[in-house]
Amino acid sequence: MKRILVTGGLGFIGSHTVVELQNEGFEVVIIDDLSNSTIGVLDKITEITGIQPAFHQIDLKNKKEVKKFFDTTTVDGIIHFAAFKAVGESMHKPLDYYENNLGSLVYLLQQMRDHKLDNFIFSSSCTVYGQADELPITEKAPVKTAESVYGNTKQIGEEIIKDTCKAYNLNSIALRYFNPIGAHPSVKIGELPIGVPQNLIPYVTQTAAGIRKELSVFGDDYDTKDGTAVRDYIHVVDLAKAHIAALQRLIKKNNTKSFEFFNVGTGKGSSVLEVIKAFEKITGKPLNYKIVGRREGDITAAFADTTNANKELNWKTEKSLEEALEAAWKWQQQNEI
Ligand code: WQD
Repeated sequence: MKRILVTGGLGFIGSHTVVELQNEGFEVVIIDDLSNSTIGVLDKITEITGIQPAFHQIDLKNKKEVKKFFDTTTVDGIIHFAAFKAVGESMHKPLDYYENNLGSLVYLLQQMRDHKLDNFIFSSSCTVYGQADELPITEKAPVKTAESVYGNTKQIGEEIIKDTCKAYNLNSIALRYFNPIGAHPSVKIGELPIGVPQNLIPYVTQTAAGIRKELSVFGDDYDTKDGTAVRDYIHVVDLAKAHIAALQRLIKKNNTKSFEFFNVGTGKGSSVLEVIKAFEKITGKPLNYKIVGRREGDITAAFADTTNANKELNWKTEKSLEEALEAAWKWQQQNEI
């Protein structure tokens, strides 16, 4: 049975990926520092799959701790989620973001080099494209100067991995996520934003649950179908399965380059107002929202050209926006404080 290390495995996308890895028969070891997740997620994963993953609470910025882990544990692959990911916060705490997101990445890669480990899957983001000149966005779209420190850590992270793979004969795939949303159909795991949600869907579900008074829609003067910004919202379970597909590609040595990257989205763009309308259909009640000014750093539109991922990873999304919103709403109701 192949053993896979999942860093950030108690987080939103990490936990859903651990479930899919176990469903596929992999043994999973989780490293998480619990800075943006809770230990209770470990029990929930075990409830879903019946298998308790091994868990190590390690801060990946602690080089000694990371070395100690790899001196005692061999793995057949690593899926690296652990990172700070709040766009706005990253602008006020750049050094925390560079130290955490890039320092931990370097320490992990050093251990792969030293222990001759391989198969590294990196959690990247469509944010590396900024506002792409053409839509849908293909992998040929140029990487633009990042609009946020968070986005810059993803761009620099990819560069670090590319150079590392070339120099030390490692193999890696970066998955450039569009907008992950939803929750597991079991309603046992989902998105657990700490404090006021930055992302749209958790803010929508908390407004519908009465936890937030009303949703602010950041701008309706964009050059889009209804003036509100367009994104590609992908169900987190579909996204988790893309990681398994990427890992299998590396394990089977089907990759054509030592460092590859794929856009992972649905290929469909939805505006903020379209998301609100779809959500209102699910709950059967109007959502309380108001139109306000644009949010700094937001782009007009982004949705993926999924041709490459569909073909090379033999993967495609199966769940609709409505299913993801339904899952997010069920998860919110389960979590009402
Ligand atoms: C989506 C749309 C907002 C909140 C970011 C990161 C990306 C990834 C996902 C980490 C935008 C609008 C939002 C609200 C709103 N992060 N919105 N009211 O900004 O596309 O992507 O999060 O992995 O890397 O860049 O996602 O959910 O914040 O916003 O109107 O209260 O919803 O303006 O158009 P975004 P988002």
